[in-house]
Amino acid sequence: MAAILLLLLLTFTAHVLSDRPATTPHASLYLSPKTIFSNYDKMLHSFKIFVYAPPSPFTGATVFTTTPESQFYTSLLRSPFVTDDPSQAHLFFIPFPSSLSTRSLARLIRTIRISFPFWNRTLGADHFYLSAAGVDSSSDRNVVELKKNSIQISCFPTSSGLFIPHKDITLPPVHSFQTIPSVNSTPAFLGYMKLREPIPLGLIEEISDDSQFKVEYAPASTRGEFMNNSRFCLFMYGDDMTWMVEAMAARCVPVVITDRPIQDLPLMDVMKWSEMAVFVGSSGGGKGLRGVLDGIEKSRYDLMMESGVVATQHLVWNTEPQTHDAFHMIIYQLWLRRHTIRYARWAEQ
Ligand SMILES: *[C@@H]1O[C@H](CO)[C@@H](O)[C@H](O)[C@H]1NC(C)=O
Ligand SMILES: *[C@@H]1O[C@H](CO)[C@@H](O)[C@H](O)[C@H]1NC(C)=O
Repeated sequence: MAAILLLLLLTFTAHVLSDRPATTPHASLYLSPKTIFSNYDKMLHSFKIFVYAPPSPFTGATVFTTTPESQFYTSLLRSPFVTDDPSQAHLFFIPFPSSLSTRSLARLIRTIRISFPFWNRTLGADHFYLSAAGVDSSSDRNVVELKKNSIQISCFPTSSGLFIPHKDITLPPVHSFQTIPSVNSTPAFLGYMKLREPIPLGLIEEISDDSQFKVEYAPASTRGEFMNNSRFCLFMYGDDMTWMVEAMAARCVPVVITDRPIQDLPLMDVMKWSEMAVFVGSSGGGKGLRGVLDGIEKSRYDLMMESGVVATQHLVWNTEPQTHDAFHMIIYQLWLRRHTIRYARWAEQ
């Protein structure tokens, strides 16, 4: 039953460019353009992950309930990265449901610490876990080690305080989209903003009165009608960000309005988000925003738009994982985090 439900959830389609990113002229999109693809190929051939059994009574598909989590988990279990031999493993995965109480979580980690020799070697640093909302701090030693040392994979955007930038990873939203071919007509709007509900913010009030902008209130599931008729798609960081990838595929360059630096963007240690999205503070109001957007030259804009389209292939979830897609890029981020110090004292056991 749960498996059928999951399959239904996953039956969306996405069309992305078939070009290999390595052959496109968008090297500037990647943080390490020279090494990313050879390192990725190395990962395909050698990366091994040991998966602990989920705590009973959870099994298989019942562990995870949100779409990006279950998509990642099922893809992982079916992938060649999983090994039954922990001595071969680079990393260790601890599956547990988000509904698990802090107490049960502490007990789970304690059991892993006592029953297996792996946790003690790194105090959890070569372990990872999925938690849609992120694990909250706790005074329990087991949970503290999990939170501080292990790699957390949670949904973007994260709640503040529950994401540790040097090690944690976020899952791109699962959202169907189509890559829209470029058109020569001039977009009707400079910026399009789709919010779940009104937000009392001067900037939003000002652009609502500006005919160059289109501001709409709609639930997260609504398609952005004005996406392909606007140069920029505007997002309030923390509000509905699920359609950001959809906007990029529609050649609408994302503008993220935020008053603090964002550290939890998906694939942040692989891609340069500044090459495909604009980040602006809200203090300049509508006028400040206009100034920033009007100041972007056409050549720069076109490059950002094209980079955004190329980037969507790394942000798309496929029912059957495809090369360089969201699943593989998450795995790649884990691969980049595999070097941790293991204490020989524990390895001898
Ligand atoms: C790991 O270390 C703890 C002490 O911190 C100890 O109680 C436990 O038995 C060790 N685990 C293994 C498998 O030796
Ligand atoms: C936007 O894209 C959709 C899907 O390709 C298309 O049906 C629609 O006509 C487009 N709208 C505009 C204004 O170009």
